[in-house]
Amino acid sequence: MCGIFGIVSKEEKPLGPILTEAGKRLAYRGYDSVGAAVFTDNSIDLRKDIGKVEEVNEKLNFSEMKGNRGIIQLRWATFGAPAQVNAQPFMDCKQEIVGAENGNIVNSIQLQEILENEGHTIQSTNDGEICVHVVAKHMRAGKTMLESIQLAYKELKGDYALIFFNKVENKIYAIKKGSGLVVAVTENEAYCSSDIPSILPLTNEIISMQDGDIVVLEPGKAEFYRADTGEKVERKAKVHKETMESAQKGGYDHFMLKEIHEQSDRARDLIDLLNESKFVEPFVSALKSAREIYFVGCGTSYHACQLGSYYFNKIANKRAIPSLPQQFIEEFGNSLTSEDAVVFVSQSGETKDVLNALNYAKEKGCKILGMLNVLGSTLMNISDVYLPIACGYEISVPATKTFLNQAIMFLYMAFRQADKDTSELAELPGLIQKTIDETDESCKEIAEHIKGWKELYYLGYGITHPIAKEGALKLKEITYMHCEGIFSSEFKHGPLSAVEKDYPVAFITAPENVDIMISHINEVACRHGKVLLIAEDNEVLQKYATSFVKVPKTNQILFPLLATIPAQLISYYASKNLDLDPDFPRNLSKTLTVD
Ligand code: AGP
Repeated sequence: MCGIFGIVSKEEKPLGPILTEAGKRLAYRGYDSVGAAVFTDNSIDLRKDIGKVEEVNEKLNFSEMKGNRGIIQLRWATFGAPAQVNAQPFMDCKQEIVGAENGNIVNSIQLQEILENEGHTIQSTNDGEICVHVVAKHMRAGKTMLESIQLAYKELKGDYALIFFNKVENKIYAIKKGSGLVVAVTENEAYCSSDIPSILPLTNEIISMQDGDIVVLEPGKAEFYRADTGEKVERKAKVHKETMESAQKGGYDHFMLKEIHEQSDRARDLIDLLNESKFVEPFVSALKSAREIYFVGCGTSYHACQLGSYYFNKIANKRAIPSLPQQFIEEFGNSLTSEDAVVFVSQSGETKDVLNALNYAKEKGCKILGMLNVLGSTLMNISDVYLPIACGYEISVPATKTFLNQAIMFLYMAFRQADKDTSELAELPGLIQKTIDETDESCKEIAEHIKGWKELYYLGYGITHPIAKEGALKLKEITYMHCEGIFSSEFKHGPLSAVEKDYPVAFITAPENVDIMISHINEVACRHGKVLLIAEDNEVLQKYATSFVKVPKTNQILFPLLATIPAQLISYYASKNLDLDPDFPRNLSKTLTVD
């Protein structure tokens, strides 16, 4: 995720070191380029490049930058490759204002066309540059900066936080819509930032902005206005006592829990991106014209591939073969042709197993499609066409938000293969949030209940089979217990022999599979096993359940996405109950670059 920080000071002073340190405190969010801008000697000094804060500072010497106002931005690329030209902040054509953005402007392509027709030169493929030009356009027409930002608010669609300053006023202007933005004021300075940790060492009295707020910062002063009406409003500071590390976790005990709770916002980001991005069409048409389609990934990404395959079958009546990378070479390798399309799915984009299969498919002439989270990764660079899943940095080793967005991307692709309307996806962010809110308590109870257990089966039928496997992977990954996820109808063909009194089996039951699942549940219940249920509320199911996680009502297609959340939460709380660190499980690594 991108990070921004701005400062305005009474006196001209060395701002470079302050900006660099603030940048380092934002680094935990993940980024691929850095830029800093200060006002000095009647001009804007802007320096930016790809790389880590320390590297870019060493190369461009941020430390020597002086001034009385400045901005630093750390960019996590979603669209527009990680490159110097796409790094933030940006200046307008006349180099009179500078600004940086966090977030996603979903109508940037349309705005770029309008701006270029009006004579603006846009140099990058980063939507942050569009924001600066939109504000500059209004200032050129004689509006004040505050008025220009108000007008820009009406034009910029999407979720974002923006920080600007101009050459004339010793002020920083910022606006919040959907992305985080906080403000702080000291006697001789004022700051704003995308998050609390970057401000904490400067002061712990912090004001949270509300969506639709514009703030005008001057040394020792912050004034807030509503962007739509221009009305002046009061925002009060709150004293923050947390440490920088706990603030980075957003108040959650672990990054994993924070990332689970982010899922509604990240889903919204992805849906916005899919609705607007010009990169989507080539991806869709490559799949449409393929003779055979393969989805290839490891671990959690493989489970997303499996769910994707169900979606393609159920929604588009189309075969897509999910495969582990090695299995892909060994089982399908000889039959691959240049008419086949292979979607390689990898959060990191660096998993060696995936890259091995990719190189193999490339030699066979297959169309290579990448689905990835980290822009600039090897997978992105080698793919013929790629799409980002727009999750921002995932810190915890167990993948959570990246799985959900991979699955949503597959669902979107299935709709597009069938030439069906994708508007159903719009309700997902709300449903995801509802699921987190409504299932958290029962997941805590189940986690308490399974404390001390050494094994568990997770069973799913059809479309929930990949979720059963993902639930099992999550649980074994961070509790170290044995857990297996299998197709429920397979249970009676062997594993059922393990069931005796109180033997635990979890069932993930989609709404249209309740009847068949009841018969599979019965196999366990009649042997006095414990039945854990993840399903929509249902009277009959309730009778069998030792524990029941009720997923909000939806439909067969969206249910697996929602059911993933309690599976994640149960694993998280189970790991916490064992005093383990779910973020960094033993023996595992976030990115596996070995064979
Ligand atoms: C998931 O919780 C695991 N950390 C792991 O299975 C992971 O999904 C797998 O290693 C693949 O990683 P990738 O998506 O970065 O390729």
